[in-house]
Parts: sequence; C-alpha cells; structure tokens
Amino acid sequence: MTELNRIALKILENGKGILAADESTGTMTKRLHSVKVESTPQNRILFRETLFSSEEMRQCIGGVILYDETIKQTASNGKSISQLLSEVGSMPGIKVDTGAKQMAGSSDEKITEGLDGLRERLKEYSKLGAKFTKWRGVYNISNKFPSKLSINSNAHALARYAALVQECNMVPIVEPELLMEGSHSADDCFAKTSAVIKKCFEELILHNVDLSGVILKPNMILAGTESRHKISNEETAKLTVKCLKDTVPKEVPGIAFLSGGQTEVQATENLNLINKFNDTDFIMSYSYGRALQQSALKYWAQDINDIKGTQAIFNHRAKMCTLAAKGKWSKELENK
Ligand code: 13P
Repeated sequence: MTELNRIALKILENGKGILAADESTGTMTKRLHSVKVESTPQNRILFRETLFSSEEMRQCIGGVILYDETIKQTASNGKSISQLLSEVGSMPGIKVDTGAKQMAGSSDEKITEGLDGLRERLKEYSKLGAKFTKWRGVYNISNKFPSKLSINSNAHALARYAALVQECNMVPIVEPELLMEGSHSADDCFAKTSAVIKKCFEELILHNVDLSGVILKPNMILAGTESRHKISNEETAKLTVKCLKDTVPKEVPGIAFLSGGQTEVQATENLNLINKFNDTDFIMSYSYGRALQQSALKYWAQDINDIKGTQAIFNHRAKMCTLAAKGKWSKELENK
C-alpha cells in the first residue's frame, strides 16, 4: 500500500467523511451576511473553530478542507488549525484552485484556474500540515453544455493539478461538479456526468496520476432544479452507483460526494441509499459543505458565543452523515 493510498483510506475509514469548510472569503461573506453576521477574519475562524472542536469530529470527520486564510489562522488556544484537527484524528486538507472563471471560447461556461505557481503553493501548504487538497471543476447542464471544450479543458486542468499534488505527497480530491441548476432530466445528468468523469480519468491516467491515491468528489445523479420530471431518492441512488461503476477505475479507493445545494436531510438520505445499493468496492462517503454546516450556521448566528449549542447541531449532522456512509441512517434516528 502506498502512503497516498493509506491517507485516502484513513480519511474515509469507518464511515468517516470530509467537512468542506473551504469557502473562499467571498463565499463565506455571503453565507455570513445571509444570517446577518459581520464577515471578519475573527468571526470566520470563530464559526469554523466551533465546528472543528465539536465532539463528533473524532468519530465522523476524517478530513477537513480548509481555505488559504483558515490554514494560516490560529485557534483560540494558540495552536495552528492543522494541529487542532490532527489532535482529533482529522486530516487537514486545502482548497488549491483559485476559482472558476469565464471560459474563453465558450463564455457561458467556466474553467477553473490556479495552475500557475501551484507547485510552490503546494510545498507551502504541505509545510503547514496539509495532507490532501481539493480542486473543483464546474459544469452547467443544458442541451449544448457541458461542451466538449469544457469537458476536455477542465479534465486537463484537474489532471495537471492532481499530478502536482501527488508529487508533493498529498492526496488530490478530484471534483468535477455538474450543477443541479437547470431543467435537465436525471437521464441527462447521468449521461453528462458519465462523460465528464470518464474524461477526467482518461486525463489522470495520461498524466501518470496514481489512482490509488485519489479521492473522487462527484455530484449525485439528480434531475435539474427546474425539471418537471423529478425522480425518487431510490432512483437517484441506483443511477449514481451505476454511473460510478461504469466510469471510475477500480484502483480508486474512495468517492466522497458533494451536496451541491440539496437539503441536509436529502443529501443524507441519498447517501444512505447509495450505500444500500453500492455493489462496488469503492467506499462511498461524503465531502459536504452546506449539508453539514447550514443548520449550525443559522443557529450560531443567533448567538455567536453559544459554542455548545452550535456544536450539538453540527454533531447531529456529522453523526447522521456517517450513519448514511455506512447505510445505517434512518428517519427515526434523524428525528430523535
Ligand atoms: P457543497 O456540499 O455545499 O456542495 O460543497 C462541497 C464543496 O466542497 C463544493 O466544492
């Protein structure tokens, strides 16, 4: 077993998942303003440290994706954030892309940037304690999208990123996200997600990336938010497993889904069903941002010093997601 494979498996062992707390300052500011909290560096680290020091971190959260600002901040006890996480057995990770920008040649689509100077930034993050990284490619679904250009360019960037990350002995999370927004059917989401993931692995292989040291972070197969033909959660789970079975090489140890705008309970229930239908050897877990933090953030905003109350909400969410990653979640446990 290689060191990278060991890290990937450790992050996702025993139903553990990933907390995606890597919102850029711009996105975090929007999230904080939506609950009427001022977006200062102090408030941003206060909310995040509240989650990172919750009791269920040890049992449920195998890794946390941080943002550049956060990995350089200090916890209230004077320790670094990487140290705080390592002490509860959670691996520190870091988002290394610099965002999705309008794509030249297809202006309604986006291309993710951040390759320039990446090798040097990776060395710095590794010194700061990061063991894994994230890069997100983002794709629209419509009649003409994602275009071949977007599929090829984003896959190429993801592969160059992953190769550089492994060179620096960290595990790359490869995240191709097809957005939920739109009137597309679930079948369309299935076909387009399959094409995108296939291309990503083609490029990863071309760039000699060790697939046993990669975590894939895909979207689930859902009908678009504006679609009149919604499918059941069971169908979502079956289609999602089928898509990944068809497209992901067997060397890949684990898959950690994004929540992508699903509600907390929907993202949990779908993950649970995915694990019930999972007839592959892939670990199927979570790497949720909104679906782990939304309720905790709302509660915290009412009194940012109510650490225990906020943690109770986060603990419950983390517990439910980890049960779902084992296929052991139920509505009864959710509402208990
Ligand atoms: P969501 O779970 O909120 O989609 O966030 C996951 C993520 O990291 C997106 O890049």
